[in-house]
Amino acid sequence: MLQKPRGTRDFLPDEMEARRSVEWCFREVARRWGYREVCTPEFEDLDLFTMRSGEGIIEEMYVFLDKGGRKLALRPEITASVIRMYVNEAKVAKKPLRWYYFADCFRYERPQKGRYRQFWQFGVELIGADTALADAEMVILAADMLNATGVMYDLRVGHLSFMKQLLQDLEPNIQRRVMSYLDKKDFKGLTVTLEAMKKPDLYQSLTALIDCRELAEAFDISGLVPEKERIEQTIGILDATDVKYTLNFGIARGLDYYTGMVFEGFAPNLGAENQILGGGAYRLAHLFGGDDVASCGFAIGFDRVMVSLGDVKQSKDTVVAIVCTNEGQKRALAIARAFRDAGIRAEMNLMERGLGTQLAHASKSADYAVVIGQREAESGNVTIKNLQTGEQKTVELAAAIAEVRAHGPRG
Ligand code: HAM
Repeated sequence: MLQKPRGTRDFLPDEMEARRSVEWCFREVARRWGYREVCTPEFEDLDLFTMRSGEGIIEEMYVFLDKGGRKLALRPEITASVIRMYVNEAKVAKKPLRWYYFADCFRYERPQKGRYRQFWQFGVELIGADTALADAEMVILAADMLNATGVMYDLRVGHLSFMKQLLQDLEPNIQRRVMSYLDKKDFKGLTVTLEAMKKPDLYQSLTALIDCRELAEAFDISGLVPEKERIEQTIGILDATDVKYTLNFGIARGLDYYTGMVFEGFAPNLGAENQILGGGAYRLAHLFGGDDVASCGFAIGFDRVMVSLGDVKQSKDTVVAIVCTNEGQKRALAIARAFRDAGIRAEMNLMERGLGTQLAHASKSADYAVVIGQREAESGNVTIKNLQTGEQKTVELAAAIAEVRAHGPRG
């Protein structure tokens, strides 16, 4: 038997319904904040992703040659694509641009619970606003979106300036390696690298920075960072809202386009793969031939939010099963249409079955059965049976529709 590729999933209807309802929570919050949906290709030129991150990232991607010999990659994330699109299509548009997306990404990772090779992100990008308020808008919006789903989470906000200040004397490639160790919390790798560099003090400072939860203390550890005022402003704005967060200057972020404020969200009820959101301020447009526009954004790991929210609920749709004899079939089709036109889910019997068998089947899958036999076909009325109470009556079609409507959602 053929199976789906490793790290991918199939979604049955109940699960899709649950996913769509969470997706709509995110869309609705985005709409209220003035963010509008964009869509970019599933695959891009490989260069789009290697330009900033180097060839090393190829290991973590689905890369292929097309029939024209072009080197392409399935997108591992969507920020680079959105900024490429901005440079191609919207460079001259009035700023700031508020965009969002809901789309699948592909990473060649070792699959486990919450870590997939195909997964979905709900993300936003705010392009062209280089202010503390713009940074803060990202964090507040992220909290609003997560709150709308009811998921439990901890939000951590930091700033790369502190780490970069401590690492400023290292060569760029060593800096990058150290940041990657910090992102993965790989303290062994960190120790080995810093010992080789003969920088034991740096290890002390970095670990102190990771543990520090106060802005003043972070300034003590790293010295005065160039963006001090902006950082204080952003934190000041956040503190004036009801967003719950902790300061965390150990956030390094895996993708290396970030330049300033960074933040991450974690679901306490998840295991190892508990990061449900990541984002920050970054600059990418200049790499793709655009202006050096400041941007800020985040992406929510949609699948992890779904895992954190837990069991998938059964559909709440009220279901009407249309049960009919051969003589009643044409009338039954018209009746089914009338229920559907009234917004009610109506399912015709499609099998060669007697009324009794049809009713027995309906009692397992529907809330009401509407029976159309010869009598009903001739009279124009319908027999409606409430499959929960067993109550049955023959009424006009309009009355049957009204009864189902009054029933409300299941459960
Ligand atoms: P990221 O942290 O790499 O950031 O991914 C965002 C979220 O996607 C993660 O926090 C996680 O929840 C989810 N995620 C990542 N990899 C997987 C996986 N293999 N399986 C399931 N979920 C996963 C970005 O992608 C940036 N583009 C975010 C951003 C937008 N920064 C600025 N704008």
